[in-house]
Amino acid sequence: MAFAVQMAKGIFDLVREDLALVEQEIAAQNSAAIEPVCEISSYLREGGGKRLRPALLLLAAGASGYRGQSAIRLGAVVEMIHSATLIHDDVIDGANTRRGRPSANARWGNHMSVLAGDWLYMQSFEMALRERNFAVLDILIDLTQNMVEGELLQLTRLGRIDLNETEATELAYRKTACLFSGCSRLGAVLGKQPKAVEDALAEYGRNAGLAFQLVDDLLDFTASPEKLGKPVLSDLKEGKVTLPLIFALEAAALPAAVEGNGDGVGHEHSNGDGRRLVAKVLEERDFQSVRPEQITKLVKETGALERSAKLAREYVNRAKASLSELPDTEYRRALLAVPEFILDREN
Ligand code: IPE
Ligand code: IPE
Ligand code: MG
Ligand code: MG
Repeated sequence: MAFAVQMAKGIFDLVREDLALVEQEIAAQNSAAIEPVCEISSYLREGGGKRLRPALLLLAAGASGYRGQSAIRLGAVVEMIHSATLIHDDVIDGANTRRGRPSANARWGNHMSVLAGDWLYMQSFEMALRERNFAVLDILIDLTQNMVEGELLQLTRLGRIDLNETEATELAYRKTACLFSGCSRLGAVLGKQPKAVEDALAEYGRNAGLAFQLVDDLLDFTASPEKLGKPVLSDLKEGKVTLPLIFALEAAALPAAVEGNGDGVGHEHSNGDGRRLVAKVLEERDFQSVRPEQITKLVKETGALERSAKLAREYVNRAKASLSELPDTEYRRALLAVPEFILDREN
């Protein structure tokens, strides 16, 4: 299957069979849907994807001493919630490509896609309800609300050049990290772990998720669309001022910070030049008067890419440190490898 090809360098070997069962569960759920929804959700599922969220849940459950049907079912639940957010996100962003193929909205239009996303949300909750476990529902409802609020907040902040690091981090938490955190917390809940372990695993997921979103933001500047399976340099066109850009704008506002380049190129970005370039793209919502290379140059030469990568490394280290109290099992070792994969990923 396409997703297997994308799986990370062996770190998910431990849960590979369970992931195949998760896949079967998702396929079974999809086939229960009426025609257009079934078609859209199967299309997305067959398009690939890393299955990072169910893998995290399964590994966290294993590290918490649980293996069994509930982890498979909840693995399917979190991947379906993820799929619903991707479908809605592409409608909101007006994105045309997802997982290397035309996005659902590009193929079926916005109306159909919104409803397919709604159906997936409800179907995942119906499945979760079968667990008859309020702690599980609490976690899922909380994270889904957070994600929707994240997309809403992002909309209110679109085009804002003065977005700061705290605001961008809050968005990243809501959009992405709270789902990662929920996945690892669910693993602990299944293993009936004490609150302290549950919180440690949730903190692990939160930091891994923050690293993941930051790397996603970086890849928007550094990756090729072929490898990434979605367009690059699109965040700024969509009005999103992400952390690498925030760091570039900070550096560009400080002439002293760029004068040290030695080759003189840094001067280009002093006196707010960088800021003017970014403002222009935000205003035009396109690369018209500004070329994409000028923005890539800006984030490179101001050291913003390096600073972002350093921050992602910090999140990765924090995620790994959260696991220090867990017993040394093969699952814990796999969990320790996941953030490193997140940092190195190319898609
Ligand atoms: C994409 O998530 C959305 C973000 C949180 C940036 P993934 O990169 O995990 O998407 P798939 O599931 O592998 O396609
Ligand atoms: C990612 O937002 C968070 C989601 C919940 C989809 P983005 O808008 O950055 O995600 P991509 O880049 O479209 O995958
Ligand atoms: Mg998007
Ligand atoms: Mg993105």
